[in-house]
Amino acid sequence: MPALPIRPGVYWVGVEDRTVDLFEGLWPVAEEGVTYNAYLIDDRVKVLVDLAAEKAPEELLRNISEVTDPAELDYIVINHMEPDHTGCLRAVLDRAPKATILASPKAVGMLASFYQVSDRVRAVKDGERLELGQHAIEFLETPFLHWPETMMTHEVTQGVLFTCDAFGGFGTLDGRLFADQLPSLDAYEREALRYYANIVSLYPKAVTKALARLEKLPLQVIAPSHGFVWREELERPLGWYRKWVQYADGPWEPGVTLLHGSMHGNTLRMVEAVARGVERAGVPLSLFDTRHAHPSHILASLYTQSGVIVASATYEAGLFPPVEDALRWAERKRILKRKAAFVGSYGWGGGGKREFAKRAEALQWEVQEALEYAGAPTPERLSEGEELGYRFAAGLAGGEVNG
Ligand code: FEO
Repeated sequence: MPALPIRPGVYWVGVEDRTVDLFEGLWPVAEEGVTYNAYLIDDRVKVLVDLAAEKAPEELLRNISEVTDPAELDYIVINHMEPDHTGCLRAVLDRAPKATILASPKAVGMLASFYQVSDRVRAVKDGERLELGQHAIEFLETPFLHWPETMMTHEVTQGVLFTCDAFGGFGTLDGRLFADQLPSLDAYEREALRYYANIVSLYPKAVTKALARLEKLPLQVIAPSHGFVWREELERPLGWYRKWVQYADGPWEPGVTLLHGSMHGNTLRMVEAVARGVERAGVPLSLFDTRHAHPSHILASLYTQSGVIVASATYEAGLFPPVEDALRWAERKRILKRKAAFVGSYGWGGGGKREFAKRAEALQWEVQEALEYAGAPTPERLSEGEELGYRFAAGLAGGEVNG
């Protein structure tokens, strides 16, 4: 996509990446793609805000060139050091010989360690202001959104906040730049939530603190470095973040994430019975076959919902490995204090239920139901499973476990 104006003198000059399979080497985006949004403030003093991944310097430089000669850049603002935003730094520096890098004090050391760049770098302080002519920018330190060095840049005359990872989402722009150009926000909200649950959610206090600061700013545009730019309904992304940050401690949405893993079908038959019970209770249900579902999608569901049912075959006296992997991810991302239930089949001595209890303890999950059985489930067992699903789902009223 070519350079596009977002406000007078402020341009999107970013890059759309349709060839990356795993963002951060972890999160699947082969279908969705991702953007590395960079922005250019074209004034007497010319400022590039954020860059792109290593593989994309030519597209970034081409877009910059549509607005100004890269050699005319005075400053390159690095809001966040992660290489999806800085990978092409050296290539851009080569074409912008008079540009000085502006970054937070913590980012300065990272510039040296990641890129061996230590000259042409100036640390900026929280609240520092830089006059550009008709425009002016101020810097807001927002540590842990996403790394400790991260900051945002506020163009104060046009009310544009360059938020980097915050308010970002997976997916390419496909000919549009602004969220208000989408016929529906539903799909993008899902991708923004997945991005949040995968990448941003681990530091909720940092998110809360940043929200409190930026909600005081007279903003006209929220311009993240992934996904769509917001020039209308700014309350929408702000409201998403206010809601999502609360999922760290609850309350959560009343709903059930059902994680299952079956070896020969004897656990899967019980999954179907349990699912019938949950559906009968009228509670939203999201099923994930852990053998195939990526943790990226599982985490987004676990993060938002109050209930988890784990259906696991016993494997070598423990949980079925793909189920165990999903639970390790939940622990890693601190998806704590949910209500939980367990069902599963074993061949001889059992063990899945026992290991689940250990994992649930580490997760501070309140296990309300457990049904472990030998071999294939009988019709009576399946009825028990359906009733288990119904009771568990019906008990999720309000979505709160610990008040
Ligand atoms: Fe988009 Fe934390 O990098």
